[in-house]
Amino acid sequence: KPYDVDYKVLIIGESRVGKTSIIKRLNDEGFNENTISTVGLDFVNVYFDIDGVKVKLQIWDTAGQERFRTITRNHFRNTKGTVLVYDISEKESFEKLEYWAENISIMNLDSEIVYIVGNKNDLEQKREVSFEQGKKFATRNLMKFFETSAKNAENLNEIFKNLAFDILDT
Ligand code: GTP
Repeated sequence: KPYDVDYKVLIIGESRVGKTSIIKRLNDEGFNENTISTVGLDFVNVYFDIDGVKVKLQIWDTAGQERFRTITRNHFRNTKGTVLVYDISEKESFEKLEYWAENISIMNLDSEIVYIVGNKNDLEQKREVSFEQGKKFATRNLMKFFETSAKNAENLNEIFKNLAFDILDT
């Protein structure tokens, strides 16, 4: 086995915030990976070395809001981490975070670790949600906060490496 531990994580959030672009970008970055389609979902495997422990993250991409409702708990049993994404240039996607956070707890995803990620921060001129607003929401919900851009890959490796570290640490 090319890894020591294997964790399932989930990317969720409103339609068009860039969930698929994020996992595609992680793919492009030269990690060992493969994508397949299963029941309308995709995943990518990303490997990190965390202090000598080889961690495999199986990162699941989900469809936006409408289709998420049809996904049953079963699909995401044993999810160890959840990345909840909004689009910094789309205020509505930020306002829906509460809805998604509720979904995470309703579905009881076994996900102890939730990250809030504001995507598309390359679109500074179109920004509708400040860094501070994102940070505030995350802090209030005891979650870590990051901004990223799937377009220029800013922060992406760091976010998922951080997540691998935090999961390993629980
Ligand atoms: P659903 O599958 O509908 O849930 O959408 P999604 O969240 O997977 O979004 P997707 O990755 O399909 O991206 C939606 C649109 O946003 C596409 O046109 C992407 O090119 C664009 N996009 C995604 N990430 C970024 C980013 O970081 N910056 C910019 N400028 N555009 C982005």
